[in-house]
Amino acid sequence: MLLKGKKALIFGVINDRSIAYGIAKQFKEHGARLAFSYAVDPIKRRLEPISEELDGEFMFKCDVTSDEEIAAGAAMVKEEWGDVDILVHSIAYANREDLKGRFIDTSRKGYGVALDVSSYSLIALCRAYEQMLNPGSSVLTLSYYGAGKVVANYNAMGVAKAALEACVRYLSVDLGQRQIRINSINAGPVKTMAAKGISGFSTILSKIEEKAPLHRNITIDDVGKCALYLASDLSSGTTGDIIFVDSGYNIMGV
Ligand SMILES: NC(=O)c1ccc[n+]([C@@H]2O[C@H](COP(=O)([O-])OP(=O)(O)OC[C@H]3O[C@@H](n4cnc5c(N)ncnc54)[C@H](O)[C@@H]3O)[C@@H](O)[C@H]2O)c1
Repeated sequence: MLLKGKKALIFGVINDRSIAYGIAKQFKEHGARLAFSYAVDPIKRRLEPISEELDGEFMFKCDVTSDEEIAAGAAMVKEEWGDVDILVHSIAYANREDLKGRFIDTSRKGYGVALDVSSYSLIALCRAYEQMLNPGSSVLTLSYYGAGKVVANYNAMGVAKAALEACVRYLSVDLGQRQIRINSINAGPVKTMAAKGISGFSTILSKIEEKAPLHRNITIDDVGKCALYLASDLSSGTTGDIIFVDSGYNIMGV
């Protein structure tokens, strides 16, 4: 039991295919106490059975584009738990038209949406929970290969992920003052609801099977196990970092 009694806040479960679900399952198996947030009311109904399955202690609404909702969520968590040991940020969004075609056509508005939901939200959540996070606690976020390399159609989200990875490095300095760690998992492609928005996603999946050292696509359990390491004391000396869970795809050259 690597996380016995640790209080873990999970942002980003929408169904049992969500990467955050794979993470929450591993946390649960290792004794963590869980609470889940959801973005909009219709998601609450889908989340309820998942929260029940994993003995979630409470759920709260938090659309990360709203400072008010972030503050209200944090106030609720403070009331329920008082403090927190683990925060998982598994959230991203870009408008469909910004996940296809030419990157040069990205609108100012679409760019703002992608960066706001997928990158700025990490800063906002860290600020809202900073004083509640216990020394030794761990913050995790999810990135993708398209942060550092050009992936067809990933477009605005690629830039949002590049910004997210930079945020992890800058936040690690501020949070490190109180011995709070923050890291990113750079996950290989997984067929989730968010991934459905990316044009040509199936082609990416078959490329991994063909070219990655492990010749298979990763699962949400693979990501969950890495998250367990990063959330637990096993990774006590690691912060501001990015760990790839992608069957090794990122290390391949021609
Ligand atoms: N699926 C992949 O191939 C893949 C690969 C690498 C990284 N990731 C990243 O993993 C994370 C989780 O995505 P997923 O693939 O599990 O998909 P998912 O659709 O299961 O999860 C995305 C979550 O983001 C939430 N969200 C979107 N807008 C929000 C908002 N305004 N406020 C609060 N929550 C909001 C959704 O409600 C959902 O729970 C994302 O950051 C994604 O970019 C995914």
